[in-house]
Amino acid sequence: MATLKDGSTKVLLTGGTGYIGSHTAVTLLEAGHDVVLVDNLSNSKPVVVDRLEAITGRRPVFHEGDLTDKAFISEVMQNEAPDAVVHFAGLKAVGESVEEPLRYYETNLVSTFNLCNAMIDAAVHQLVFSSSATVYGIPEQVPMREDDSITTATNPYGSTKLYIEQILTDLAHARPEMRIALLRYFNPAGAHESGTIGEDPNGIPNNLLPYITQVAVGRRQELTVNGDDYPTPDGTCIRDYIHVTDLAEGHSAALSHLAEHAGLHTYNLGTGNGSSVLEVVRAFERATNMHIPYQVGPRRAGDIDASFTDPAKAARELGWTAEKDLLDICRDAWRWQQQNPQGYEDD
Ligand code: NAD
Ligand code: UFG
Repeated sequence: MATLKDGSTKVLLTGGTGYIGSHTAVTLLEAGHDVVLVDNLSNSKPVVVDRLEAITGRRPVFHEGDLTDKAFISEVMQNEAPDAVVHFAGLKAVGESVEEPLRYYETNLVSTFNLCNAMIDAAVHQLVFSSSATVYGIPEQVPMREDDSITTATNPYGSTKLYIEQILTDLAHARPEMRIALLRYFNPAGAHESGTIGEDPNGIPNNLLPYITQVAVGRRQELTVNGDDYPTPDGTCIRDYIHVTDLAEGHSAALSHLAEHAGLHTYNLGTGNGSSVLEVVRAFERATNMHIPYQVGPRRAGDIDASFTDPAKAARELGWTAEKDLLDICRDAWRWQQQNPQGYEDD
């Protein structure tokens, strides 16, 4: 990374109080970087900033505001003049994106336009973008590789990721001074080992791990397994669950890579290991000594049978591989849920 006089770097995180942003903030603060968080708090809580300070002993700067407000992000960018930006902010609920496509396209695309224009105006040239394995749509093969085709998405949320990848690719071509990393996350899960920051979904969780931890803590009666008639060994869908602190390290590795390499770089961030829904349930039971009651329900619309990465490119070029396994994910997700039964509402 480009460095400040004292050897550190200032990194601005949009969506920085959110789930993945907050864990990345810990990694960067602990590595000695200055961290600036920007978030409109539409899906996160301000208490996250206190928790980051408690974990790291350093308080990140926080600007509350909306990236769709051009004047707001321009002013923050001019005043903070960071060395690099990681762009997490956006709406991410797949089902909601089907119900409200315009809100999803508008928020995710306009935010990115405003951010990129603000960066260009302030001569900030390094950008890491939160993309998703969802850009592979129905994958042509597993494991998925970065050069697989990404021409269709199965929902408007996924389309916003595809379009933003295309926009950033065009920007990198048009402006050789821009250095951009597109990080395609597989299934982020788990929490910081302190149990003080974690994933805090609104309402009924869509994702598997938060649903399981809410069953374990007594907020939900039982898990519904969405179909057991897929062409997989136990009939349930296979995903590549990656510990959120490993993912945070992946961002740090991508920032270091951008400091040394011009142009556009695309990486899948996952473990390379696929686990079925029932394997996750069993791993959680093993990690926590708890019983997770479940029933098998119908398939969920839009689910693909298997998704996991070939992690070779990130290992080769970034020197990054995921270190934690499914048991670590389950243990840490449970510690977070146990210490915060109602999420950040407990504070
Ligand atoms: P999150 O909702 O916890 O974090 C996103 C943050 O952005 C939230 O704090 C929210 O308040 C903020 N935000 C939303 N719209 C904003 C706006 N217009 N202006 C300012 N702030 C805004 O989500 P996350 O799980 O941390 O995901 C971070 C990024 O990673 C997202 O772009 C998401 O699409 C992507 N991603 C997430 C997953 C996943 O499973 N969690 C998988 C693949 C990709
Ligand atoms: N599942 C259940 N019961 C539940 C919740 C989930 O059986 O209560 C199953 C799903 O049907 C799926 C698997 O658990 O088979 C994983 O589901 P998640 O919702 O946790 O993860 P997805 O892979 O479906 O989706 C995630 C992100 C999306 C992103 C996608 C691809 O949530 O935002 O990965 O990157 F688009």
